[in-house]
Amino acid sequence: MKVLLCYRIPSIVQDYYKKNLPPTIELICPPRLDQKVQISPYSSIDENILIELSSDVDVLIGYKISSSLLKAAKNLKHIQVPWTGSESLDFDLLKKYPKVTVSNSHSNALIIAEHAVALLVAAAKRLIYSDQKMRKGDWSSRYDNINSQWLSEKSLGIIGFGAIGKIVARMMKSAFKMKILAIKRFPEKIDPDAVYDYLGGHDLKDKEYVLKNSDFILVASPLTEETKDLIGEKEISLMKPNAIIVNISRGPVINERALYEALKERKIAGAGLDVWYNYPKDRKNPIDVFQNFPFRELDNVILSPHRAFRVHQRGDLVSADDVIDNLILLSKGKEPKNQLNIELGY
Ligand SMILES: NC(=O)c1ccc[n+]([C@@H]2O[C@H](COP(=O)([O-])OP(=O)(O)OC[C@H]3O[C@@H](n4cnc5c(N)ncnc54)[C@H](OP(=O)(O)O)[C@@H]3O)[C@@H](O)[C@H]2O)c1
Repeated sequence: MKVLLCYRIPSIVQDYYKKNLPPTIELICPPRLDQKVQISPYSSIDENILIELSSDVDVLIGYKISSSLLKAAKNLKHIQVPWTGSESLDFDLLKKYPKVTVSNSHSNALIIAEHAVALLVAAAKRLIYSDQKMRKGDWSSRYDNINSQWLSEKSLGIIGFGAIGKIVARMMKSAFKMKILAIKRFPEKIDPDAVYDYLGGHDLKDKEYVLKNSDFILVASPLTEETKDLIGEKEISLMKPNAIIVNISRGPVINERALYEALKERKIAGAGLDVWYNYPKDRKNPIDVFQNFPFRELDNVILSPHRAFRVHQRGDLVSADDVIDNLILLSKGKEPKNQLNIELGY
């Protein structure tokens, strides 16, 4: 079976694939256009090179697949997104290729869940706020009237009860005996071992129930046409004034202006955000990158530059585990796991 990588991966990930794939699977890593130019990982590869290499490949690994590449890859059976989050794919285009399956990788869900918990706990305990003051010799956060929050036995609403949401639920239930109120797109399809106290669907009534009754809210849904602005001004107005919201999904799932204004006016207590609205254009020069609203000026929000996946050495490799599993399944003629719903876009 032939597999073509459609984007650059760090050499550590390339070696990991090679070590873990059986010899029956040929992984094609396209050469650089110009070996002398230092190109950073994750940058795309010249389309013409991909087209040239794709005529007999069975699988493409990538997150943006063009129409010309799909036309050229005549043997294509499967597209593997190398991580979770498929919003860069053109789903209208993929609908024209109903025989080609498309999968995400969810094998980094545990490390993302850990980061979500870190943001939630740090926001609840106002850790960064106190840390920044104390660095200036200022102990006022010990005496001011803004208290930290209890986590124990409080309620945690989870918007998008998938791989990450379910792990966070288990962690917060066992560590803090939190009450878990969750919604997912298809609540009728739920793992028997998932931990929750309330489970609803994506309709308005269930979403409102979770927003009104949660002390903490974790947003962990994919970004799709349905979930863009899933949390806007109206939804924020339903939240408790003490609510803390954590977003590890994608920025636009929460409306940027509504979130900024709610935090600024202290309509909710705080937020922990790992995902954003504006990203650096050049990963080698990621400075002076700001959002459309100055979240950086607010003392009730924790900012994390989409780095939940960055875990000592293993970070990039963990996402590769599901990819490797799927390549092995496909090479044995079996169905790949974590298949996307092309109609819904996740
Ligand atoms: N910050 C990071 O570094 C990082 C890393 C990995 C992933 N992510 C983001 O996190 C997202 C979730 O990852 P995951 O691995 O947990 O994915 P997942 O297993 O696919 O979970 C997504 C969950 O959202 C639910 N959902 C979909 N549409 C919904 C809607 N309209 N209303 C309510 N719930 C809805 C799904 O419901 P069903 O289960 O019923 O289909 C599913 O439970 C990814 O899509 C990605 O954008 C971020």
